[in-house]
Amino acid sequence: MDSGEIRSRFLKFFEERGHTVVPSSSLIPDDPSVLLTTAGMQQFKPYYTGKADAMRDFNSLNTASVQKSFRTSDIDEVGDETHLTFFEMLGNFSFGGYFKEGAIKFAYDLVKEYGLIIQYVTIFEGNSEIPRDDESEKIWRELGVKDIRQQPKSENFWGPTGSEGPCGPTTEIFINNVEVWNIVFNEYYCSPRSVSEAGSPRALSEVGSPDNKLEKLKTPGVDTGMGLERLAVALQDKEHIFETDLFAPILELLPQNLEDRKKRIITDHVRGFSFLISDGVRPSNKEAGYVLRRLMRRVITSLYIWEQQTNSQYSLWSLFEKIVQVYGGFYQELNLNIIKEVFSEEDERFRLTLGRGLKELEKLKAIDTQSAFKLYESYGLPYEVIKEVGGKHAEKLTREDFDKKLEHHKETSRAGSEAKFGGHGLMLDTGELKAHNEEEIKIVTRLHTATHLLQAALQVVLGKNVKQDGSDITAERLRFDFTFDRRLTDEEIKQIEDWINDKIKRGLSMSFKNVPYEDAIQTGALFFAKEKYPATVKVYTVIDENGKPVSSELCGGPHVENTKELVGFKIKKQESVGAGVKRIRAVVADIILNT
Ligand code: ALA
Repeated sequence: MDSGEIRSRFLKFFEERGHTVVPSSSLIPDDPSVLLTTAGMQQFKPYYTGKADAMRDFNSLNTASVQKSFRTSDIDEVGDETHLTFFEMLGNFSFGGYFKEGAIKFAYDLVKEYGLIIQYVTIFEGNSEIPRDDESEKIWRELGVKDIRQQPKSENFWGPTGSEGPCGPTTEIFINNVEVWNIVFNEYYCSPRSVSEAGSPRALSEVGSPDNKLEKLKTPGVDTGMGLERLAVALQDKEHIFETDLFAPILELLPQNLEDRKKRIITDHVRGFSFLISDGVRPSNKEAGYVLRRLMRRVITSLYIWEQQTNSQYSLWSLFEKIVQVYGGFYQELNLNIIKEVFSEEDERFRLTLGRGLKELEKLKAIDTQSAFKLYESYGLPYEVIKEVGGKHAEKLTREDFDKKLEHHKETSRAGSEAKFGGHGLMLDTGELKAHNEEEIKIVTRLHTATHLLQAALQVVLGKNVKQDGSDITAERLRFDFTFDRRLTDEEIKQIEDWINDKIKRGLSMSFKNVPYEDAIQTGALFFAKEKYPATVKVYTVIDENGKPVSSELCGGPHVENTKELVGFKIKKQESVGAGVKRIRAVVADIILNT
């Protein structure tokens, strides 16, 4: 039975039994307490509590859906035979229509209709607060199920973590030793004792059995979830999820000589980010955008390393096309062009710093939280990449410590920017360079050196007639005005970027000498005609491996000591400012990575 038929039979079964079929909601939930949609019940939360009226909205107290879901909780396990980030959940829901008997009988009948055999079921064993689920046990027994196992709250109680919501004991169906269907009896409302995690990079979309405050719900409800991928394994008689029609046609497009685990990770992540992008998520350093960025960067890194090792090229285009082909019929929001566009932009951006980042990583003997964080900050390497590429050297590194460090860093920069906008004034103001704090001074210093390289590159690419007409540097960007009478072509922009990135990559040193003004001009060092210079000036020079200057300018500084500190360079925009004057806005990698 192919996955399309599994979905449609599920929905038809419940539709025939008085359920209204509701389309999957977006992966970006309306509910601000969670980052991503983690379960089918999420879009129905208000119907359990009576805040919304199911009769009015669905003309029924019962609904069914196939829901796109995303969980980061298993991300470290992805690559084995069972774990995923993105998955599809088949679910039926009731908001006062039926309860334990109805839910269990539906599940029993549908499993039979699919032609599967229940191996065993589990029920909640009870604790001091919540009674044992004798009722479910009795219903299963009457249906003839013999193997009924009781389990503690950690296993058989469900509620959305990191956020509040309906929750309750569960009964679960196992086939071939795998849990296939989770049936939740929402008798309670759980409010987390601490919600501090919500909004942090990973609390978010994770699900388990929260240690919550419980209140009885007025009307008990039903929430069920059956993993489509696992069901497909059973119905297609496969060994594991990656052999099913949901993955196999995609995975087989990857290079043959990639190891299996990598192929699975890439397949899972590409599928996941294609859906996230199509639902409007864009890479960033926070919340859902941060999850998306991590998935993309891990894929980019695996392919980059493979390309280096095999001296070949690989494009993900055919994978994207296959994903849209496999899933586009059911999920019409999948948008091939946007997936390609968002991916290429991140790919290009990350590759500016990836090679250097990996080199730095390889140099480290023992990677601790501090050095891992530095790699993240300077080169954008996500935790997963550091852990994976670092291998034995990163043994002691834990996600928990890394996330703590990241959270701490965010707090400090938040405090920093509050101080900045609180009117604490500038710490550095040379007229050309403006910075509010130590952190910004570092950034504008790099941008300043980048400005010198830009001016040198303009001379190389556009000719010696190009003259500086103005320069303004903030922690967000450099802005450079110069005389030139037409728009630069895309090719010229690229040549300029490549010229500068080449100098950055080579790690050339930058230093200055105090020289009499006349002598400085004699050497051909660049200067700004509008500026008044003193009798003795500083000349800042970047020299190449043979001691030959690649950039030389009269300048007061400050500058970096080595061009590698810039990490990467990118032109963001060109504009026209008045007759014959062009303006370029550009950034270096710190900013490229953090915007
Ligand atoms: N909401 C339940 C789960 O996600 C069904 O397992």
